[in-house]
Amino acid sequence: MIKEKQLRFQIITKTTTYLFEVTESGHLKHYYYGSVLSEKDAENWEISNSVGWGCSVLYRQEDPSSSLHTTPLEWSGSGCGDYRESPIEVEGDWGVLTTDFRYQSHKIYSGEGPHRFLWPRAEGAEETLEICLSDPEIAMDLRLYWSVFGDVICRKALLINRGENTRYVRKLMSSCVDFAGEYRMLNLHGDWIREAHPEISSVGYSRIVNESLTGFSSNQHNPAFAVMTEQTNEWSGDAYGFNLIYSGNHYASLARSSANLTRIMQGISPANFRYELAPGESMETPDAVMTYSPEGLNGMSRNLHEFINSSLVPSYWRYRERPVLYNSWEGCMFDFNERKLLGLAREAKRMGCELFVLDDGWFGTRNDDTQGLGDYNVNLKKLPHGLTGLAERINRIGLQFGLWFEPEAVNENSDLYREHPDWVLQEPGRKPLQGRNEYLLDLRMECVRDYIVRSVSQVLDSANITYVKWDMNRHSNILGAGSMEYILGLYEVMHRIFDPRPEILLESCASGGNRFDLGMMTISPQIWASDNTDPMERLHTQKGLSYFYPQSTMGCHVSASPHMQTMRHSEMETRGNVAFFGALGYELDLDHASYENKKKIREQIKFYKKYQKVFQFGTFYRYDTDEDHEQWQVLDGDTSMVGVFRRLGSAAPGFEKFSIYALDPDQEYHVTTRSQTVNFSRVGGNINYLSPIRINPNGPLFFVVDQRLHITAATENRTHSGRALAGGFVPMPLFAGSGYDGNQRLVGDGGSELYVIEKTER
Ligand code: GLA
Repeated sequence: MIKEKQLRFQIITKTTTYLFEVTESGHLKHYYYGSVLSEKDAENWEISNSVGWGCSVLYRQEDPSSSLHTTPLEWSGSGCGDYRESPIEVEGDWGVLTTDFRYQSHKIYSGEGPHRFLWPRAEGAEETLEICLSDPEIAMDLRLYWSVFGDVICRKALLINRGENTRYVRKLMSSCVDFAGEYRMLNLHGDWIREAHPEISSVGYSRIVNESLTGFSSNQHNPAFAVMTEQTNEWSGDAYGFNLIYSGNHYASLARSSANLTRIMQGISPANFRYELAPGESMETPDAVMTYSPEGLNGMSRNLHEFINSSLVPSYWRYRERPVLYNSWEGCMFDFNERKLLGLAREAKRMGCELFVLDDGWFGTRNDDTQGLGDYNVNLKKLPHGLTGLAERINRIGLQFGLWFEPEAVNENSDLYREHPDWVLQEPGRKPLQGRNEYLLDLRMECVRDYIVRSVSQVLDSANITYVKWDMNRHSNILGAGSMEYILGLYEVMHRIFDPRPEILLESCASGGNRFDLGMMTISPQIWASDNTDPMERLHTQKGLSYFYPQSTMGCHVSASPHMQTMRHSEMETRGNVAFFGALGYELDLDHASYENKKKIREQIKFYKKYQKVFQFGTFYRYDTDEDHEQWQVLDGDTSMVGVFRRLGSAAPGFEKFSIYALDPDQEYHVTTRSQTVNFSRVGGNINYLSPIRINPNGPLFFVVDQRLHITAATENRTHSGRALAGGFVPMPLFAGSGYDGNQRLVGDGGSELYVIEKTER
């Protein structure tokens, strides 16, 4: 609900109040963002400063409280006494202009307010507040918007040139706000195969900037971040979540001012940005997303997950379970033919998969990554019955069929490039640069957009394709506003292809998670989180993403061990237990998987299918753990899963105590461990104490046994109240090498357990 009384605005979400008012000078003064305030509190809330401070400049000489620099604001400009970073910069013919936008009028819309550009946006806004501001001295108007979705507020800005001269926008943020007090920031940094690692810093007097300059939202600096106090942890304390519904160069900055006000802004990156506004023209920003929870980072994540699952992803896929898929890439790379694929599909079906995805290498001369990209004509040498025939055969096996594309890029060695070298994204007079042997196509050009729409649509209509993996494998070189126009072109292309085909599950990918963002999610309900599927690495990436994105959006695959990038050995059970907390898939050569591993895969998929809704859409909780452990929980109604992951085991570990929160304290729950097995190779020479026969742990027989026989790990089986589980229960002791009788937990380095918690019938 949005209320206004004497130009004091209250934006009331399910559990929060956001409060600001128009000052006498017409500026917007921010008061409060936190748990819901009573009407009386909201009316009396004040942050007052009735004297000018030191050398501060007054906006109105007669009003000593009018220093903009010491006022918490909802928006600001430059040149009028606020010396903090401004969310807007505009240039006229004679240089950079002072900007000072003041209140004119406002309007409260039920539902979504007006919008102009084709920016992706969430659907189903409850109400929208529009405030019209104006700076008559430069003949420009600014409209600011706040829209309510559950416990999320979206903000955006629209700048209009009312004058007779052209203006140039050098910076226009989507939102800006000042919070009184001191904060920490949690953001996600990374790179290829190291995506979304959380980083926490104190917000001090020097500005922190979280920005992407690669042309995309990037694996280096995800646009999402959290702001919290010193006391905040996963379960309690103030936690504010921020994000941007945009897939290009983004910018967020945080800095504490000398008056102890923390300014937070976010929007399109202003680096090299210059956007021309002719008289009468306007520029609208993408939406910024904000939420608040007093229940720590888990509460913040819950608000954001609910927003994404219910308002942001395409309507057909909202709360619709994602199929368990098999992807051909890590198993085959470019080296396959129809026979190999059908063999894998049969095996994937036996394992319980629902969808077979043919990754790169199916078209043109695409036998490695140096050639063929751009030519989407099927390679009949590899696939003699074409895609139509392959899809039919895969469907007959009982699987859906999905396909990989990389439509934004082209290899130099391709027919498309030979025909249209001018379609490559480049600055006039400069040689375009390659990344992964490819150029980007210039999606600002209508003919390029038409080509992509036509070629991808033709393929999609040629076979029964129910899933698309849309890849993009390099950073961009285009600067500033050009990069924004590329992203707008991309959104247009994707909408034209997928709006008429809502039932196709689109999984966006960019060398893994190089474009894991809310803009993509408005079209692509699932995103490939990382090319790195090593479970120990995935603990970082999936945990990092979980702060801001729900499990349903994360493509999480089980692959082979040792892992191709980290060379690390891992347990099949741990690979599964980590991937369960997302949209599960398998990506390994099943022809090479051992009998015992295939058995485990079958059991994993059966288990996951039973609890798919809990894993994909349950409320997600992270636990505050030490460096060697992670503990994650999902909860849906009466069922909860708790994953406990161990990076490094320790000697003589003794008893452990786990707490399980988020349950009803007065209900009783049955706790079991998902039944798992452990490879003999994990216990080496100990095999001679664990098995009745003696085997040389370095001999060939040991290898054969390890392929076919595994040790069944001990399982818990107990019933406790939610209150007792929150207090902490003590599971069976960990194996310590001094004996095993089936009642010790076999965990060790890289081991994991999954507890299934179900409410009992009383
Ligand atoms: C990228 C993707 C991978 C795979 C390859 C194919 O690296 O992230 O998942 O699709 O391209 O070339």
